[in-house]
Amino acid sequence: MIEKDFIPSAYNHTITEGKVSYKSPSNIALVKYWGKKENQLPQNPSISFTLDACATTTKISFKRLNKPSEEYSFDLLFEGNSKEDFKPKIKTFFTRIEVYLPFLKEYHFTIETSNSFPHSSGIASSASGMSALALCLVALEKQLNPEMSDDFFTKKVSFLARLGSGSACRSIEGDIVQWGNHENTEGSSDLFGIKYPYKVHDNFKRFHDTILLVDKGQKQVSSTVGHNLMHNHPFATQRFKQAHENLDKLIAVFESGDLKEFIAIVESEALTLHAMMMTSMPYFILMKPNTLEIINKIWEFREKSNSNVCFTLDAGANVHVLYPENEKDVVFQFIKDELIGYCENQQYICDRIGFGAKQLKMNA
Ligand code: DP6
Repeated sequence: MIEKDFIPSAYNHTITEGKVSYKSPSNIALVKYWGKKENQLPQNPSISFTLDACATTTKISFKRLNKPSEEYSFDLLFEGNSKEDFKPKIKTFFTRIEVYLPFLKEYHFTIETSNSFPHSSGIASSASGMSALALCLVALEKQLNPEMSDDFFTKKVSFLARLGSGSACRSIEGDIVQWGNHENTEGSSDLFGIKYPYKVHDNFKRFHDTILLVDKGQKQVSSTVGHNLMHNHPFATQRFKQAHENLDKLIAVFESGDLKEFIAIVESEALTLHAMMMTSMPYFILMKPNTLEIINKIWEFREKSNSNVCFTLDAGANVHVLYPENEKDVVFQFIKDELIGYCENQQYICDRIGFGAKQLKMNA
């Protein structure tokens, strides 16, 4: 598919008002997206576990205007309160997607959104937030064009979510999603995420992700600034090539169930992401001392217990502790005994692999 395929022809239905609501999860990348081209296209393919507990719920009430407005007409409520400082982000998003959703200026929208996790937890809400918003908007479009197939619906949501935030395109479906052209993944595309199409060993079913909140502060580097640091980065070419190689290795691991190899790929990806930030200009260290303490504790525990627990990181100090379902009791005990002390206010979130976004029933 190409971008033009997402531009609709004239709609055959009209709708004057209505409501739609979706709950959309966050995701955690195993092979990381870091570096993008024009129009939110990734420099390399990435793959993630869709999460379950960390999610955004968004409701959109829409009303057709008598005549299209000059500017986008919307109100935004975050956790029940009007949130002016979120509006520019939505406006930018609308501007990017209007060519694909030409009705945006024909309606007034009331967007009500809330997260299952605390806003100040240092957990990025852009993946769940942008995917929930894209879901609501394409659901409205489906009312204008009821013939839209389910497959096209999912692809278009992912395509639009990507224009809001790259990783958001991996938050529509579960339980594993790949985004970005990769010659060995059939159907893969830079334009949208696809449900991972190959065999996944039972070892990876219902994997756990306990997120340790090491630093709940504002992000030191916004993702946009971060991605831009990969332009003219001395190691960029090699890194983008490595992501393809790691994805190939992961495809083999998903089939075989080899957890030791899984750990090697996932931890190396996390440290490579941070290495890219440390070696860019300007450079950043986003880990905190407690991030390193936790990593060392995980390595120590793995050594002495032969457990298959491992870690990954996003562009921040928090640590995602990943472990298989059949080790959940022993690893969770280890987390409580030895890791939680390194979290800010002892805070952590218990999450696991989930199965994608869900439409919520509207009462009125
Ligand atoms: C480190 O998706 O937040 O989490 O496209 O600029 O919104 P934008 O970036 P964003 O970047 C996420 C980067 C990452 C790795 C990943 O999720 O693959």
